[in-house]
Amino acid sequence: MTSLAGRRIVLGVSGGIAAYKAVEVCRRLVDLGAHVSPVLTQGALRFVGETTFSALGSERVQTSLWDEVSPIPHTRLGQQADLVLVCPATARVLGTFAAGISNDLLTATLLATRAPVVVCPAMHTEMWEHPAVQDNLALLVRRGVHVVPPGEGRLAGGDIGKGRLAEPVDVVAAVQRLLSPKPLAGWRVVVSSGGTREPIDPVRFIGNRSSGKQGHALASEAFERGASVTVVTTVDRPLPAGIVQERVETAEQMRQAMMAAAVDADLVVMAAAVADFRPVDPAAGKIKKDKGVPQIVLEPTPDILAGLGSIKRPGQILVGFAAETSDLRDNALGKLTRKGADLIVANDVSAPQVGFEHDTNQVVILVRRPGSDEVEAIDVPLDDKRRIAAAVLDVAQSLRSGEHQHDNALG
Ligand code: PMT
Repeated sequence: MTSLAGRRIVLGVSGGIAAYKAVEVCRRLVDLGAHVSPVLTQGALRFVGETTFSALGSERVQTSLWDEVSPIPHTRLGQQADLVLVCPATARVLGTFAAGISNDLLTATLLATRAPVVVCPAMHTEMWEHPAVQDNLALLVRRGVHVVPPGEGRLAGGDIGKGRLAEPVDVVAAVQRLLSPKPLAGWRVVVSSGGTREPIDPVRFIGNRSSGKQGHALASEAFERGASVTVVTTVDRPLPAGIVQERVETAEQMRQAMMAAAVDADLVVMAAAVADFRPVDPAAGKIKKDKGVPQIVLEPTPDILAGLGSIKRPGQILVGFAAETSDLRDNALGKLTRKGADLIVANDVSAPQVGFEHDTNQVVILVRRPGSDEVEAIDVPLDDKRRIAAAVLDVAQSLRSGEHQHDNALG
């Protein structure tokens, strides 16, 4: 269990019935060694008492911009914090923060900090599902705010549904994760994501079903582990602020962007689904139906992964994927060897909940360690794409540190 000794956490509590659970969060953070500065909104004070948080926290509760000895308590709190946690975060606080408005001590502190911010929304299902709340949250996520999502269960008034504050133990675990050492600090990571589109004419293209979920999960996980991350992507999906995005469409555009970005990268991941063929001569104008069925001649696209393999510098780690519908390991093994990758993440995209578009994936990671002729196979069971990303990065990290994790030789 990661100790939080010496870490300064501002615990913002806003006005919802779930405020009582913040008491438990406060106690657990202090037990782990954190210095907790509780900040309660006027709404929170209607649900929980100041004395409780003053007794359990590391300093007296603050509730106002105007009641401290210092005339600017929000800047002291914001500047000194290693992390600001808002638990529970009401729709009002999320909206005010997203709009950049500071109308109380908590929202002023949120704007006055450069520390990571974690919000734990809690509200009635109707409010949680309202597009305004979801848009505010998406905006905050794009700016790098971390969200501990609510669960389903009993809400105030006896209703049952989504919107219930995450359990205190999960909130504290999220804080610990964020404040734990960053194993990829100093790494430059480049990830390709999404599916390429090869034009047939100005309105039609050859494409595939890649949503970018797996590529973006890898980028977000690498970023959370402290890396500087560039994503070369064909899709727009939310990413934490601080990740550099390069938008491309075709395989050729992706090739150029990847080859340029990979030059000084420590880790390069080709998670994108790149078209294998493209029309030789895309029509300049829309192909008309009344001209009959067109004959579209195709040519192979450049193999980006193989190109990256050919320019790979010593110490750089190159990760490819293999999307298969049969003979998963054999096909993936062939790609590992032919394309010069250190690691191939193979997914059977015909299996349920695996591969394209799903939120989950199931993979076998094939890895050839430096100086070894053997290939290890690491099975990662069906899980959220973010956890699949974490498993891939664990293996990539182990290549750098020379660790030997598994001993499952494939030959
Ligand atoms: O985006 P999602 O909806 O989340 O779906 C995830 C995914 C299924 C796209 C992902 O898990 C995945 O499998 N990505 C690779 C898809 C693919 O193109 O596989 P492949 O077996 O055809 O190619 C093998 C490797 O060569 C891949 O790393 C691919 O990026 C690369 N490649 C392929 C063709 C080409 N012309 N250039 C390449 O670099």
